[in-house]
Amino acid sequence: MRNLRFLKNQIMAYKFMTAEEAASFIKDGFTVGFSGFTASGCPKAVPTAIARHAEEEHAKGNPFKINVFTGASTGDSLDGALARANAEAFRTPYQSSKDLRIRINQHDTHYCDYHLSHMGQDLRYGFFGKMNVAILEVSDITEDGELIPTAGVGIAPTICQLADIIILEHNRQHPKELRGIHDIYQPLDPPYRREIPIYSPKDKIGTPYIKVDPRKIVGIVETNLPGEVSGFSPVDEITMKIGQNVADFLASEIRRGIIPASFLPIQSGVGNVANAVLGCMGANPDIPPFMMYTEVIQDAVIGLIEEGNCSFASGCSLTISNPLVEKVYSNLPFFKEKVVLRPQEISNSPELARRMGLITINTALEADIFGNINSTHVLGTKMMNGIGGSADFTRNGYISIFTTPSVAKNGAISSFVPMVSHLDHSEHSVKVLVSEYGVADLRAKSPIQRAQEIIEKCVHPDYKQLLWDYLKLGQKGHTPQSMLAALAFHAEFNNSGDMRKTDWSKFF
Ligand code: COA
Repeated sequence: MRNLRFLKNQIMAYKFMTAEEAASFIKDGFTVGFSGFTASGCPKAVPTAIARHAEEEHAKGNPFKINVFTGASTGDSLDGALARANAEAFRTPYQSSKDLRIRINQHDTHYCDYHLSHMGQDLRYGFFGKMNVAILEVSDITEDGELIPTAGVGIAPTICQLADIIILEHNRQHPKELRGIHDIYQPLDPPYRREIPIYSPKDKIGTPYIKVDPRKIVGIVETNLPGEVSGFSPVDEITMKIGQNVADFLASEIRRGIIPASFLPIQSGVGNVANAVLGCMGANPDIPPFMMYTEVIQDAVIGLIEEGNCSFASGCSLTISNPLVEKVYSNLPFFKEKVVLRPQEISNSPELARRMGLITINTALEADIFGNINSTHVLGTKMMNGIGGSADFTRNGYISIFTTPSVAKNGAISSFVPMVSHLDHSEHSVKVLVSEYGVADLRAKSPIQRAQEIIEKCVHPDYKQLLWDYLKLGQKGHTPQSMLAALAFHAEFNNSGDMRKTDWSKFF
């Protein structure tokens, strides 16, 4: 097995080409799979070249759109560029590009919001048809077809298996010494599937590379492009309070003997709140050093590892900003002992979340007073990002927690409403809700008890009375919703721009 870095000028085992030449393999209507997860590990030069080609074709009056399959969200060079070129006919699963969001919400792009753990297997099951091309960012390639991903894996092993041809972006920003940080494992499909033999976040069960038939690799594009992960906003008073509430709650669960004293692995969602929660957990003296079994290893985790508060992190991607990438790569032997990157089918596996007893912490857009969660649709209609891995973990965790600031848009929107305007996680899966005001423990409570707990502990003072009044208005039944007024908060916001103006007398 020889390393290509030394081979490029010696043998022509593979064809090296420009991004434009690589993009010319992609035809209108093709289905293309991309490596990576979040902006980490995603190809950059080839998708941008595809977008340019689409614009040229559109200028000539020709149709050009492709179907895009990824691990999750991507960088701006991928979804951003393709969306601006209106070159995505179909897109799945998670995304977080503002340009793509516009395309999705005006139906230029048909978006299928999909559980991340299902993506690889459902592609293999054939639910999405044929895959023409796989495009991967790699840190190294061997002449016998061993591909070393960069900082994110996603669905890379599956798309390599399914696609007719493979195009590689060899990004020199990522050292070949990344070999060994990945654990590539793909389960067999039913009826031959066995258990996934991971019992601790540290367990490695696969290979450090994705093995492909070298004859499928039609070209390699050499790049030297920096990562596109955006940094985090500084922790503000509200996110800090939410983080402290989560950390205090977990510490109290250890004291009560509900969480073992040795603690349980943590899954943490994406974004600023999640980053703040992790920081607060690290700072809480009552929480012992913990392991993470999560999908996204984000900025806060690097500090936690360095300080010894996080003893090991298993994820699908290192979604860290560029200064931290440099830090990790300059001390790679240390971090390779503490981090493993897996395909999302494994990082998000419901089987493993249940077996290891994950404490799952995700962010909601809105929650209702009975414990149902909307993670995806702004005011019930507009797609924000997608469900991501939140349901993979929430449904199967040991304790599933959702966090949210109590209000949005300067208080004109309450994050706690009578009925969610879109349902992603049902009351049956959600165990704890946390806002900056407190912690609502929904376990072992009936719907009406949950409503009382949520209004008392989590709701913003501006909305407490409105929600108490909703409950007191005399609706009957196990879950006392009013079929007329349940969405009145949302209707009021659409009407006046302020949910606080909701007037129940119109309904009763
Ligand atoms: N109704 C309408 N808009 C709302 C809202 C609500 N109830 N709550 C928040 N918003 C708006 C905010 O005002 C903000 O708008 P802006 O972009 O115009 O400023 C926007 O939604 C994002 O809110 P913010 O508080 O900054 O969110 P975030 O960065 O913490 O992300 C989610 C929150 C829910 C969008 C994000 O966590 C997500 O996409 N989750 C789903 C996937 C997931 O959980 N992945 C992790 C699984 S491992």
